[in-house]
Amino acid sequence: MKKFTLFALLALLGSLQCVAQPAVNVKKYGAEPLRFSSVEEWEQVHRPVIMNFFEREVYGRMPQKQVPMEFDVISEKAGALSGKAIRKEVAIRLEGMYAPILVLMYIPADAKGPVPAFFGMNFKGNHQINADPEITISVNAPKKEELGSDPERGAASSRWPLEMLMDNGYALVTIYRGDVDPDFDDGFRNGIHPLFHGEGTPAADEWGTIGAWAWGLSRVMDYLETDSKIDSKKVAVIGHSRLGKTSLWAGAADPRFAIVISNDSGCGGAALSIRKQGETVEAINKSFPHWFCDNYNKYRNNEEALFVDQQGLIALVAPRPIYVASAVEDTWADPEGEYLSAVAASPVYELYGKKGLTGPMPAVDSPKAEGDVAYHIRKGGHDINLYDWTQYVKFADKYFK
Ligand code: GCU
Repeated sequence: MKKFTLFALLALLGSLQCVAQPAVNVKKYGAEPLRFSSVEEWEQVHRPVIMNFFEREVYGRMPQKQVPMEFDVISEKAGALSGKAIRKEVAIRLEGMYAPILVLMYIPADAKGPVPAFFGMNFKGNHQINADPEITISVNAPKKEELGSDPERGAASSRWPLEMLMDNGYALVTIYRGDVDPDFDDGFRNGIHPLFHGEGTPAADEWGTIGAWAWGLSRVMDYLETDSKIDSKKVAVIGHSRLGKTSLWAGAADPRFAIVISNDSGCGGAALSIRKQGETVEAINKSFPHWFCDNYNKYRNNEEALFVDQQGLIALVAPRPIYVASAVEDTWADPEGEYLSAVAASPVYELYGKKGLTGPMPAVDSPKAEGDVAYHIRKGGHDINLYDWTQYVKFADKYFK
């Protein structure tokens, strides 16, 4: 009798397993265009598999555990940017973390209600995005001793055209990457990882620094949902370079980001890895061993083994609008690979009735931005500048205004 019960149980489990199997055979996608027959097929079969691949093999899984946190408005001042903006700073205090994540916001002074926002991480501290002398300098920002000079206020202001954003009715929200996780290989002793791993380190399929940064962006989104000055349904997540890799991963993982913008994100961002143009999977893991999960090392000089290339990451954002941008001299980021990746993701957008990218790469300084997957390549090198932002504002206007 006992034997029979066990057998029946095993048979039942077996049949349940059969039921749980995807109805459609999931093959390896490589760098192919992602063509499926319906939204249901994409959402029920392929999207979960591709998401699982990026979670376990590329950026690493983010933790499920919730950390208690508090939002603390530390300053709010009208009359910033010669009267164009309200400047607001919020400390996100995660329980157990040695310093808060400092959120810096500029909100158009003439806003009549909640405004749409661009939200991105910055490289060297909030105080570098504008010369405004009252921006709080994070304790995590590079110090005088490390820089050989005083931390320069406004040093990165060419990357953050605040006045232009205010004139166009957008708020700008930013945090310093080092407030979430410092950008060096410290064995995950600093930043948010110890809140989840204690003295240990993430497993081979758990998050590195890009995953941590993306997680941090989502915590700021948690705050933005509580701020009545921001229309949290209209937040575009934006990032340049390594922070563009981060905005893509954050946008893929968190559907609350309504638009996703990747500026010169290159390898491990928008660019197809299989082309091995510019930075390769080998090079990036060697120089930045802390960015991805350990499993990503399997693909060093072995890109053919990737289950899906970076077009899969772009497709994970569908049907939300996405903008991928390159610069002509930025060969390290492989502009053509960034474009082809956006093209290969486009059939997924088309399943939703959205307009993807097709055809040859556009000429320099001639954006292809009439659809929901947009792209431009501008003259010049690896940077984010007013030209790039002007295109992003035009693109966001289509959805947010
Ligand atoms: C390096 C790195 C790139 C990265 C860039 C940046 O060049 O190799 O992958 O995008 O730094 O973040 O500026």
